[in-house]
Amino acid sequence: MLKLYAIRPIRPIKPCLVASTFRHYSVKVDTSNKADVIKDSQTDTTSKPGAEHGHTLGQYITKKLMVRQRLPTEKGDDSFLTPPAMPHHGYRQDLMEKIHYEHREPTLIRDKLAFGLMRSLRVCFDFFSGYKHPKTKEGLEKLTPATYQMTPEKWLTRFIILESIAGVPGSVASFLRHLQSLRLLKRDKAFIQTLQDEAYNERMHLLTFLEIGKPGPFMKVLLYASQGVFCNLFFFTYMLAPNACHRFVGYLEEEAVYTYTTCLEDIERGLLPDIEHFKVPKIAKDYWHLSEDAKMRDLISYIRADEAKHREVNHTFANLKLDGTDRNPFALQVDSVPESAQPNNRLSTHKAVGWERDELVL
Ligand SMILES: [Fe+2]
Ligand SMILES: [Fe+2]
Repeated sequence: MLKLYAIRPIRPIKPCLVASTFRHYSVKVDTSNKADVIKDSQTDTTSKPGAEHGHTLGQYITKKLMVRQRLPTEKGDDSFLTPPAMPHHGYRQDLMEKIHYEHREPTLIRDKLAFGLMRSLRVCFDFFSGYKHPKTKEGLEKLTPATYQMTPEKWLTRFIILESIAGVPGSVASFLRHLQSLRLLKRDKAFIQTLQDEAYNERMHLLTFLEIGKPGPFMKVLLYASQGVFCNLFFFTYMLAPNACHRFVGYLEEEAVYTYTTCLEDIERGLLPDIEHFKVPKIAKDYWHLSEDAKMRDLISYIRADEAKHREVNHTFANLKLDGTDRNPFALQVDSVPESAQPNNRLSTHKAVGWERDELVL
């Protein structure tokens, strides 16, 4: 790994401070769900074969960012859960299973810029969140529990950072369109509805993972700062170039589908027995109408399907005239238009790379 900066051990003023600086909690999950035993142990990056023992800046940040699993005594408070404000419409199981990573090739300059920015952020995100996963098919086939580098904590860290960012665009875009509707005294043609639903849906993803993992102060500071930057940048860019913003979100959602697909495949390979035995939180069961004995695999399948719909919606919005000319075909349905020329919120009409404008009756 590229060593950017060597971190020297801090002078040991107090033994407990040193321990908390260079160690983090890793969790052994009792698969019978009777008790979780937490061990204060060295990070997994030093216990895996071939792991480096030096501390680079990247490794230091990864350790500090790492989420730990909540103790049974830290489970969230279910006493004030209200019915979801925007209920989930559900998906057909067979269609959810078919979701996979698909990429829309950028053609316009603005699309290439959006994709390039997304790829750059992805590389940084992978580096600092300690993401280590084979990139080739041969590497994946050779993957064994002994060579597997991704721990449940790393996946939870990844999910929580991803979802806390993904909840911003829908909220900012709907806010701006809401203001535009008030200011210009014009209808919005149903874009606000879908964007608010997307933001709510992303926040439900985040709240679900926060019931399982507990971020530390370092991550909270990072999310505070990154939201401040991203929210403002997205706000001003959306006022100038809304289509490019939706394309950027389309690419962000492609990455989300990729992340959840990889996690699901690893669960199926038996590489993540701990995640498989996490208890699905009540907030998630209520929102996605999951059964009492639902497993994490079921939950992640639903979340991946949500991300796939966001991918489709945002790639489609990026193709539309957003100045009030076009309607949002996902929310403003016209009965006389057939499904072949009008998408909806379900997976039956799913087009991963989005609908072209000339495919739609608007
Ligand atoms: Fe999400
Ligand atoms: Fe999403």
